[in-house]
Amino acid sequence: MEAVLTFSNSEEQRPVSWIRDLSAMLAIEKASFAHPWSLFDFLLFNCKAHTSGRVWVIGGKVVGYLLYEKQVDRLHIAHVAVRPDCRSLGIGRNLIRSLADRARCYVTLHVRKSNLKAQRLYQRLGFEVVRELPHHYGDCEDAFLMGYLGP
Ligand SMILES: CC(C)(COP(=O)(O)OP(=O)(O)OC[C@H]1O[C@@H](n2cnc3c(N)ncnc32)[C@H](O)[C@@H]1OP(=O)(O)O)[C@@H](O)C(=O)NCCC(=O)NCCS
Repeated sequence: MEAVLTFSNSEEQRPVSWIRDLSAMLAIEKASFAHPWSLFDFLLFNCKAHTSGRVWVIGGKVVGYLLYEKQVDRLHIAHVAVRPDCRSLGIGRNLIRSLADRARCYVTLHVRKSNLKAQRLYQRLGFEVVRELPHHYGDCEDAFLMGYLGP
């Protein structure tokens, strides 16, 4: 079983529990994205092979999550979000850093061209733009594919 990383008495990072955490993740999702994943999108992701996730918990409440998929030659971060009132505290950075540094393989993610805050965070963590993905999202916005080779 995967170890739970504990940062203080009331703050921890642990593997996602889909039954326990889904409603909190849906609420954070709605507060975080103009085009949020639906319940169906979350369930579909969970049903795919080789997918998993981690949540950040403060005082027993989920305040952030990161979902990822193990692919043949890489680990792809599919989704990451932090509750608006808990941002800029290092939670996103810690969720990504602990996963990427333990991955022991190439780590990728997609980010909207307009999402400068997320791009800055990923760049500070060592991710580099690999290429542009034109009209990647449902609303036709372009994405950057970013990659991280490891520590
Ligand atoms: C992108 C996102 C996940 C980042 O999560 P976060 O927890 O706010 O990230 P961090 O706190 O680790 O870093 C974000 C900022 O806080 C700053 N920060 C980190 N630790 C800090 C600390 N201890 N004290 C003060 N500031 C800190 C970082 O320098 C960074 O600065 P910036 O605002 O100039 O970019 C979050 O903003 C979010 O959920 N956004 C909406 C959804 C989204 O865009 N997801 C990404 C899709 S690709």
